[in-house]
Amino acid sequence: KWIVDKDVDNLKTYPQITEPAELLKTNELVAFPTETVYGLGANAKSDEAVEKIFLAKGRPSDNPLIVHIASKEQLQQIAEEIPAKAESLIDAFWPGPLTVVLKKKAGVLSEKVTAGLETVAVRMPDDPVALSLIAAADIPIAAPSANTSGRPSPTAARHVLDDLEGKIAGIVDGGSTGVGLESTVVDCTEAVPAILRPGGVTKEEIESVIGPVKVDEALKNAAAAPKSPGMKYTHYAPKADFFLVKGEPSFIQQLIEENKAKGLRTGVFTTLENKHLYEAADAVIGPAAAGDLKKLAASLYGTLRTFDEKEVDIIYGEVVPEEGLGSAIMNRLLKAAGHRVIEQ
Ligand code: TXA
Ligand code: MG
Repeated sequence: KWIVDKDVDNLKTYPQITEPAELLKTNELVAFPTETVYGLGANAKSDEAVEKIFLAKGRPSDNPLIVHIASKEQLQQIAEEIPAKAESLIDAFWPGPLTVVLKKKAGVLSEKVTAGLETVAVRMPDDPVALSLIAAADIPIAAPSANTSGRPSPTAARHVLDDLEGKIAGIVDGGSTGVGLESTVVDCTEAVPAILRPGGVTKEEIESVIGPVKVDEALKNAAAAPKSPGMKYTHYAPKADFFLVKGEPSFIQQLIEENKAKGLRTGVFTTLENKHLYEAADAVIGPAAAGDLKKLAASLYGTLRTFDEKEVDIIYGEVVPEEGLGSAIMNRLLKAAGHRVIEQ
């Protein structure tokens, strides 16, 4: 494990970056921070390296990986073409939590990165540690979130260790991640780009740059087949049974009482303001004030992991409005809950 100080100049020359960069070059796995969540990096050109990612995470091999780059020159090397709208998005949001899906250049990356697709997902993370590491390794880096498949994504080095200790060569620890939710994935291969996964950049922000975009049908309708292969798997799930609740706090209090009577331990995922209402529950976490979606996004996965430590049997979560960052938050909450919503 290397601990880095993001604020030093010329980070790229420090052993905390040059050592893990060397490991990446020799096809080992290294976890590193990005502005969204920690990534599990591997040389995207090597079958051997990329195979290790799927093994360490227990990830289905039909779920392609995002390729992380540190310069636009690297993009030219892996993408066959960059349509005008993709270019505009890149100019507006890179480095940042936006992933663009483009036609891939044949024969450059390991086929395992793209799971046999003709397209490649690419992003340039907005984190000095990630950018220095990718630049020092001087190769495109395939990196899914650095969690065991199905678990909440890691927003701190501790989470990576909890899931992957003993399975990877090392972790670059750059502290907690800022955004806390993964990047927005936008398919730019069609005339009208489509959001395949909501994330750190909102639909509203994207449309302000390139005009109307589509939203993959599967994001609106849980039964439709998603275009982003990863979106079909259960995700982000805490160990307890997690339910979202559309209703008043008094209704949630009633649910807590019913479970208590059955001898079950309950948790509530709520707001700072509502925390005090659920004293009957065994664990109440309200990490952000109502409406503070940035704070909620940043603490979402950590909160789901904390419930695991509290050993509750059932968790009730309050819903948030699906606007702005709220769309990505609700997408993750719904997946964590296996789309189970209790309506009052
Ligand atoms: O913020 C992020 O994007 C983080 C950090 C580490 O950069 N990475 C991340 O990777 O979330 P992962 O592997 O957990 O999610 C990648 C998503 C999956 O839903 C996958 O199916 C989709 O991107 N994806 C990758 N390549 C694709 C492609 N060619 N076409 C469509 N979807 C693709
Ligand atoms: Mg993931």
